[in-house]
Amino acid sequence: MRKNIYKTIDPGQISVGAFHQYLLGAVIPRPIALAGTVDKAGRFNLSPFSFFNVFGANPPIMIFSPSRRVRDNTDKHTLENVREIAEVMIHMVDYDMVEQMSLSSTEYDKGINEYIKAGFQAKPGDLIRPLRIIGAPVAFECKVINVIETGSEGGSGNLVVSEVLRMHIREDLLDENDMIDPVEMDVVCRLGGDWYGRINSENLFEIPKPIRSKGIGFDQLPDFIMNSHMFTGNQLARLANVEALPSKEYLDGLNHTFKQIEKEGADMKTRNHVLMRWVYECIEQNEAMKALALLYLGHASGMLEV
Ligand SMILES: Cc1cc2nc3c(=O)[nH]c(=O)nc-3n(C[C@H](O)[C@H](O)[C@H](O)COP(=O)(O)O)c2cc1C
Repeated sequence: MRKNIYKTIDPGQISVGAFHQYLLGAVIPRPIALAGTVDKAGRFNLSPFSFFNVFGANPPIMIFSPSRRVRDNTDKHTLENVREIAEVMIHMVDYDMVEQMSLSSTEYDKGINEYIKAGFQAKPGDLIRPLRIIGAPVAFECKVINVIETGSEGGSGNLVVSEVLRMHIREDLLDENDMIDPVEMDVVCRLGGDWYGRINSENLFEIPKPIRSKGIGFDQLPDFIMNSHMFTGNQLARLANVEALPSKEYLDGLNHTFKQIEKEGADMKTRNHVLMRWVYECIEQNEAMKALALLYLGHASGMLEV
């Protein structure tokens, strides 16, 4: 049984570097922006940033953050570049390019072209000067509209706020509805330490959006369910996502199924096991109303309380 005991840390209590590591380990997974920039002398730069996300669709805004180096409190080349030329090509990173992306994070001297160092083929942007990697799953041509400094010490962030002017999606990633298929995209994300994650069919799952309906919520689930200790939080959440508790008609309609369950068990204990197998299966199959109804019928017959 998990004990839910916490290690509690205030920033400042430990070194910036150590706290940084805890942040990187905790806020996961982080998407990776492989950011291409150019300085005013026309020298290209490419570096990955996992302090990154999208923050609105109208206007479409992306933010990534090149931190001030903890080592010597200096700015990263990417930041210097967007201050000179306010444009950035943001690429998403898939598994096929993850090692090259990692190589591009090397702290090469200013002016060294990491597109070349990391072996990427690239071509000019349509609307901006930074280069676009050929083969990247998705690329965004962005104009930088603001840089927000969050501090002046090593480890502080610089939020590069960019507006997407044009988006490129590799066509093989689109499904029959013209939507991006996450399995095909095979994107990688950053975790703490040297860890990366890979999104593929083995670890993807779907949850129907609760916004489509208005679930009754945990507080409306009956006590005999809430106090039963038979369900995980995830299972209870599925039960609480029904729009109403089962009606009398619904319960009547399930009587036949319930009678079958009753017949399957010789004694109350076996019947309880059969019923719970059904209930768990229904929850798993997203048939929460049926699961609830079986629980109500089981409760009424005394089958649950054995
Ligand atoms: C996957 C990955 C994610 C990274 N995320 C960040 C980040 O969010 N912020 C940051 O300052 N550095 C981050 N880095 C380190 C920079 O990529 C690295 O400091 C790079 O050399 C900066 O290059 P530049 O000086 O050419 O801009 C990350 C490195 C990797 C490999």
